[in-house]
Amino acid sequence: MKILVTGGAGFIGSNFIHHILKKYPEYRIINVDILTYAGNLENLKVWENDERYRFVKGNVTDANVVDPLVAESDVVVHFAAESHVDRSIVDPYAFIDTNIKGTFVLLESARKYNKRFHHISTDEVFGALGPEDAPFDENTKYDPRSPYSASKASSDHLVRSYFHTYDLPVTISNCSNNYGPYHFPEKLIPLAITNLLEGKTVPVYGDGFNVRDWLYVEDHCKAIDLIIHQGIIGETYCIGGASERENIWIVKKLLELLEKDESMIEYVKDRAGHDRRYAINFSKIERELGWHPEVTLEDGLTKTVEWFRENEAWWKNIESGTYKE
Ligand SMILES: NC(=O)c1ccc[n+]([C@@H]2O[C@H](COP(=O)([O-])OP(=O)(O)OC[C@H]3O[C@@H](n4cnc5c(N)ncnc54)[C@H](O)[C@@H]3O)[C@@H](O)[C@H]2O)c1
Repeated sequence: MKILVTGGAGFIGSNFIHHILKKYPEYRIINVDILTYAGNLENLKVWENDERYRFVKGNVTDANVVDPLVAESDVVVHFAAESHVDRSIVDPYAFIDTNIKGTFVLLESARKYNKRFHHISTDEVFGALGPEDAPFDENTKYDPRSPYSASKASSDHLVRSYFHTYDLPVTISNCSNNYGPYHFPEKLIPLAITNLLEGKTVPVYGDGFNVRDWLYVEDHCKAIDLIIHQGIIGETYCIGGASERENIWIVKKLLELLEKDESMIEYVKDRAGHDRRYAINFSKIERELGWHPEVTLEDGLTKTVEWFRENEAWWKNIESGTYKE
């Protein structure tokens, strides 16, 4: 099987490429990525000279780049996106361009060659939950509240429309917050770890009681693997980590793992329109495809801290973002 991965130099895409190339010796991967601030070929250095892996620097909004790559692949797994909510608040343009137009351009090529298309999306398309609300599932109505989540919601609608209108063999997955190796240190967990390793404080938005569900990236990659092989065409799968926690719980756990005290917490002004709670009911993928998260949050955080300790050169070479979650 030849898989076209878009955005494979980013956090989840590079973990997915490692997962596939290690698990399926006969598979080939083409990784198309424009290498924004979030794309880093260091993530994939071990595959650089492997004939099963090819990197193409290119923009998914450019049909001339995308079209021949889709033509020679069996499956498209679409990760490429602008992915950071805070950046979407400051400057939404790239989010509309990459996340909506990029998805559209890829869908057009997939339609031309009738290729299997898997779209990676987010739980943020569903909006925010109150403390007592039931977790999101595949039937939750869309209610995006940031330019990022609105652009992802638009792309999900486009993907579904290509299934209904053109019978394009698509699947979609909406997952919760990922964490793990190669996570760009602008989001809560990697920013907190790298700050603490450097003796800096950890910024926490508002009161710290916003709740997220946390998914270890390797578990996410296994779910995508199952969906592209056994997922039912036209279906959506919600993927969660069974690990709902307040942000402040995460920060305190990291303080404990890194043997620091609470004086390292710095409360900062809350994000505009900060969604209070996300939670995911992943019983559909559990029931239909036999997937469930294998890594507990405690183990995943321990592994992640270890990874950042052992890969100091990786994160020190990255220009750290000024964004905080
Ligand atoms: N990180 C999470 O917790 C999370 C949660 C839910 C969903 N998602 C979704 O998963 C996908 C991957 O997220 P991530 O955290 O790995 O993102 P990331 O920001 O780490 O990586 C995105 C990658 O896409 C590339 N890219 C951006 N614009 C491009 C363009 N126009 N053409 C080609 N490549 C381009 C970047 O260079 C980068 O390598 C995204 O679609 C995101 O919406 C992420």
